Amino acid sequence: MVKAAILGFGTVGSGVYNVLNTNSELIKKRTGEGIEVKYVLDLREFPGHPVDDILTHDFNDIVNDPEVKVVAEVMGGIKPAYDFTKQCLLAKKSVCTSNKELVAKHGPELIKLAKENDVNYFFEASCGGGIPVIRSLNEALIADEIDEISGILNGTTNYILTRMSREGSLFDDVLKDAQDMGYAERNPEADIEGFDAQRKIAILSSIAFGKTVDHEKVYTEGISKITPSDIEFAKEFGCTVKLLAYSRHRDGKYHAFVAPFMVDRENPLYSVDGVFNAIFVHGNMLGDAMFYGSGAGSLPTASAVAADMAQAVKNEGRTVYNNWQEGSIELSPIDTFEGRFFVRIEKSDKETAKRVFGDQTAFKEIALAGSECAFITEVMSEKDFEEKASKLSGIKSRIRVK
Ligand code: HSE
Repeated sequence: MVKAAILGFGTVGSGVYNVLNTNSELIKKRTGEGIEVKYVLDLREFPGHPVDDILTHDFNDIVNDPEVKVVAEVMGGIKPAYDFTKQCLLAKKSVCTSNKELVAKHGPELIKLAKENDVNYFFEASCGGGIPVIRSLNEALIADEIDEISGILNGTTNYILTRMSREGSLFDDVLKDAQDMGYAERNPEADIEGFDAQRKIAILSSIAFGKTVDHEKVYTEGISKITPSDIEFAKEFGCTVKLLAYSRHRDGKYHAFVAPFMVDRENPLYSVDGVFNAIFVHGNMLGDAMFYGSGAGSLPTASAVAADMAQAVKNEGRTVYNNWQEGSIELSPIDTFEGRFFVRIEKSDKETAKRVFGDQTAFKEIALAGSECAFITEVMSEKDFEEKASKLSGIKSRIRVK
């Protein structure tokens, strides 16, 4: 049995322990060796729980134990996860993580460090929970030039938007409800303002395009300003509102952003509801592939971490190829991106809007928004849109259209 350690016994850590125990026989059969958890690191005590026997509060017990070959870092955050990860890799232990914050910030350095030490730094669970999209990009799609990734990468916001759409509820009310039910964090900013999806699209794009996409340079808008009126107008246009993460490499230019989008019924993302995630990948030979599944939660995420641990065991002494190589990608500014826009305005602005955006623009009105109307523009650059929009006396909202 290969000895393993789990850093952090929270939602994901306890899930990893559970997966490794529940499926221990089949993991043994498939890896040839099996994985035994020798240590669990956590600051808390777990009296009466079987994990109590292998609990340690001291990271040195793990890093100094030569028997430990693979470590699950499921603590989250940068400190102390970054230091612990580096120390494990330097001690020739593979590290498998769900920590998207750490991967987005220090991924290239940790991948390089793993390579220098003939071990692996795996992070399948950092994007899309249990959906095996990272291994697919690195292995199954290795013969393709990936030029576009788009999808729903955050379960919390998708859950909120789904309920707003079904119930016509206000964003704040659904968020509170989601927090009470444990679906949304008490501090929900990273999810609702799009920063979680921003990190995930940066990680996926870095693998797909081969160099680092700096997550802080990915233009990001969240969903906190989406109103029931937006959702009702979306329905009038045969659409629903989704928080999409998007990246594209075309004509030598790279774009990446996270923002709410109107998605029409023909698009498979339209029916991705609740906490599910879905990721479209477009390759120059492949065409489209879509990955769909459980994007969050203890066991789905732990399933991906445990699979990475099994991969690490199967590849002991050898670093598996990762397409995320050294160097960085310069993203083009969002204002050069072209698309259509949904715009909600006061009815009194309708004639000006027609003049500015063109006579052909089709307007919709709904009872819910008595004094308002909405329209969808032709394709134009973000810059052109902002110029035209500034000629109106004030827009209530604008949402990009997929
Ligand atoms: N907060 C994340 C989400 C968890 O809602 O998708 C999974 O990364």
